[in-house]
Amino acid sequence: LARKDLPADLAGRHVVVSAGGTREPIDPVRFIGNRSSGLQGYALARTALARGARVTLVAANVALPDPAGAEVVRVGSALELRDAVLKAAGEADAVIMAAAVADFRPDGYRDVKIKKTDGAEPEPIRLVKNPDVLVELVTARRPGQVVVGFAAETNDVLRNGREKLARKGCDLLVVNEVGERLTFGAPDNAAVILSADGASVDVPRGSKEALADVVWDQVAGRLK
Ligand code: CTP
Ligand code: CA
Repeated sequence: LARKDLPADLAGRHVVVSAGGTREPIDPVRFIGNRSSGLQGYALARTALARGARVTLVAANVALPDPAGAEVVRVGSALELRDAVLKAAGEADAVIMAAAVADFRPDGYRDVKIKKTDGAEPEPIRLVKNPDVLVELVTARRPGQVVVGFAAETNDVLRNGREKLARKGCDLLVVNEVGERLTFGAPDNAAVILSADGASVDVPRGSKEALADVVWDQVAGRLK
């Protein structure tokens, strides 16, 4: 799928992309998950490869073919994703957190399947907070490294996006509006890319590849 019209402006660069959605195990057969398909993260990985980058793709529960030439690290839970991303980010020029990371995980894994005991009500499952990988990346960021987050918002997209960008401390935040029929598993996407310096770029509805290209334009322009 190499596209000849793309600039090789990421040649010699190492980029890390996380994709998909984490699964937080409850017992050997159950988990708490989310609707992320991994399509946008995979489009980002393929586009970076086409523009000459070395790509590490941290994939959480994705049913998509490996992009040719990428180093793919498969993970399940948020804690596994965190380990893989932080390790790969150590010497990377840019990191994009396109994965949907669970905010909470069950407190304690039951290593025996929870049974339906007739008549009795189930025990509640307590949740605890997962670490914020994006914030940890920003804290550990090496000089010149570009860190990008994604945000799915259902309302007040711009205001929530600006607040989130400030809270996370990343360089760019790609914000899209989500709902039952918007974005999840769909081939296309619309977004606004917010920058820490106050700028914003509107990306009209189009393919996830097209959005990926605009994201890499923004990243490439910030690489030293
Ligand atoms: N993210 C992360 N680690 C988490 C949660 C989120 O690295 N534990 C990253 C996501 O990969 C994404 C960005 O943070 O790039 C924004 O995720 P989002 O869920 O929109 O933000 P939250 O801070 O979790 O806020 P909320 O879900 O309450 O809107
Ligand atoms: Ca969240």
